[in-house]
Amino acid sequence: MDMPDSPASSWVIDDRLKRLVREAQRVSVLTGAGISAESGIPTFRGDEGLWKQFRPEELASMDGFLANPRIVWEWYRFRRDVIGGAQPNDGHLALARWESLIPEFTLITQNVDGLHTRAGNRNLIELHGNLWRDRCLECGRTVEASEEVISGQAELPECNCGGRLRPDVVWFGEMLPEDEWRRADEAASLCDLFLAVGTSAVVHPAAGLPRLAKTRGAVLVEINPEATPLSGWADYTLFGPAGQVLPELLELVGT
Ligand code: APR
Repeated sequence: MDMPDSPASSWVIDDRLKRLVREAQRVSVLTGAGISAESGIPTFRGDEGLWKQFRPEELASMDGFLANPRIVWEWYRFRRDVIGGAQPNDGHLALARWESLIPEFTLITQNVDGLHTRAGNRNLIELHGNLWRDRCLECGRTVEASEEVISGQAELPECNCGGRLRPDVVWFGEMLPEDEWRRADEAASLCDLFLAVGTSAVVHPAAGLPRLAKTRGAVLVEINPEATPLSGWADYTLFGPAGQVLPELLELVGT
């Protein structure tokens, strides 16, 4: 796949794709960090990506948390600070509007920033958890981050049961939540049109959903300024930013 010389605006929505978007009644979407890039939230693997500056195994793994819970909590408080000031962008808003226009729209996200909920999506599957929720290591209860109780000098949040709290996000090496995965697998298997938006498509099992959709007969459309391992598979790769491409697709829906 030749890299586009001007990735920022080198996508073409041809007549066939226009018809597909107009007619699609069952649409499933997988989003990654790229859809939040235009909201000012850094991605993980781009040139300015978080994993270029920080070591994921130290910050996003159970071993890392047990070894140094303070550092991990500092990392997640830093990310909450960055995300707390962000707003849903036109890409998020287009997906929320699309859900309201057709009978079956399922949004599967790898993101933990909560921006899809704030944009208005309801049929949302958070495969990797949610940064704004904590979970107790002992009793498994989840609490909203705002309800955190910090006692003693440890500066580490605790559950009412006295157990240690961790961010309710899926760390490397951990299983995805069972019900969310079942729903995502079903949404990918039963749709007419599958959009992969803003994901480098390298973290499994989420990265397998677009291929699953295509093998089950969906048209696969990728939206990303750069090529990914999906680009060779996709029926269409629209090399552009989600905040510009998704509103263009949305204009076709229901027309
Ligand atoms: N619009 C669309 N895509 C964009 C934009 C944009 N404006 N800006 C960047 N991108 C693309 C990048 O080209 C890249 O392909 O978004 C993708 C982001 O890839 P990653 O940083 O790898 O993020 P993601 O695919 O979500 O990572 C998957 O890995 O670290 C774990 O759990 C974490 O959920 C995350 C998972």
